Amino acid sequence: MEKKLRYGLVGAGSNAEKKHLTGYLNLPHVELVAICDVNMASANRLAEKYNIPGVYSDYTEMLQKENLDLISVCTPNFLHADISICALEHGVNVHCEKPLAINGTDARKISEAQIKSGKKLMIGLNNRFTKEALFVKEYIEAGLLGDIYEAKAGWIRRSGIPGRGTWFTNKQLAGGGVMIDLGVHYFDLVLYLMGMPTPSYIAGAAHQTYANSTTRNRNGYVGNRNGIFNVEDSAVGYLKLENGASVSLEFSWASNIEKDKAYYELIGTKGGIKYENGELTIFSEQLGTCIDINPKLGASHKSINEFEHFTHCILTGEEPLAPAEHGCYFMNIIDAYYKSVEQNKPVFFPELVGVR
Ligand SMILES: NC(=O)c1ccc[n+]([C@@H]2O[C@H](COP(=O)([O-])OP(=O)(O)OC[C@H]3O[C@@H](n4cnc5c(N)ncnc54)[C@H](O)[C@@H]3O)[C@@H](O)[C@H]2O)c1
Repeated sequence: MEKKLRYGLVGAGSNAEKKHLTGYLNLPHVELVAICDVNMASANRLAEKYNIPGVYSDYTEMLQKENLDLISVCTPNFLHADISICALEHGVNVHCEKPLAINGTDARKISEAQIKSGKKLMIGLNNRFTKEALFVKEYIEAGLLGDIYEAKAGWIRRSGIPGRGTWFTNKQLAGGGVMIDLGVHYFDLVLYLMGMPTPSYIAGAAHQTYANSTTRNRNGYVGNRNGIFNVEDSAVGYLKLENGASVSLEFSWASNIEKDKAYYELIGTKGGIKYENGELTIFSEQLGTCIDINPKLGASHKSINEFEHFTHCILTGEEPLAPAEHGCYFMNIIDAYYKSVEQNKPVFFPELVGVR
């Protein structure tokens, strides 16, 4: 019988079950071997539900004992670096949730450990895998937008704090607020679609309005009344790129807006693309008339299954769609965003942070 990848999961919280366990569960090349959480009740609950034999409260013990080929890292952000590096040093491939780390320095350490290990690391940037994103990437690479000179990215919620007073709202544990939580999705995506261009400077603003509110939590998320809330709940910014293009940003967990919206826009010399809440529209001009095109994606373009993709990369040596190096590029930009907020002025990039 063909060898199956021995799979372990670290962090048995909500994303672990919704995304990673469901994602890896029925893959033919994967065997669910072990699960780890400091909260043994969480680990035991998922171990029983998904029939996982090994249960641990210490990930180093799991890595020493289980001879794993692959782990998912689904813990609070500040642990991503230690766990990913430890796994890579044990010769284990890593599927790490976003953000790769809480800052550029930790992201760089992970990337170096990955290169040294010869193993694969993929960041759980699920928005890169959608049929819409794959189509837009292809469309841009075919030159159909021309030169992109303006982009916008945002994910704004009216009431959507992911657990007020939990690790999400604690700077030390999360690395930041909404920018590092939701910004990581669509800010990353537009930069990825634009080919990860070299940044020139960033100007950011951040606001904390709902630290004491008990009404603006996201549905289903449990808050902690006595917990810390020392991060931003809304974030705006402007990134200028060396090629003259710009990206404007708006993210909010909670704000007084009309409706929730997840979107990006890419505007080029030949056409523009808008994605909003799952809908894609292309704007252009033909025969002297402005036209709108609504791509009917389906038969021609399918989303990539993130989990199948990563196991394929491990088994074939192919490079994953969201490698560690991309996380270094992005986390450098996020570091500069927070520095700009702190210093109340634009921050210029001291060195080129484009992909190696
Ligand atoms: N890609 C996405 O769309 C998406 C969605 C939600 C969350 N996430 C990411 O997934 C990660 C987890 O988020 P979540 O919503 O599941 O959080 P969560 O709080 O529900 O789960 C985190 C789990 O980690 C456990 N944990 C803490 N310290 C640990 C340690 N040292 N060893 C083992 N387990 C430990 C906690 O006990 C908890 O069960 C975060 O990085 C988050 O940004 C990604």
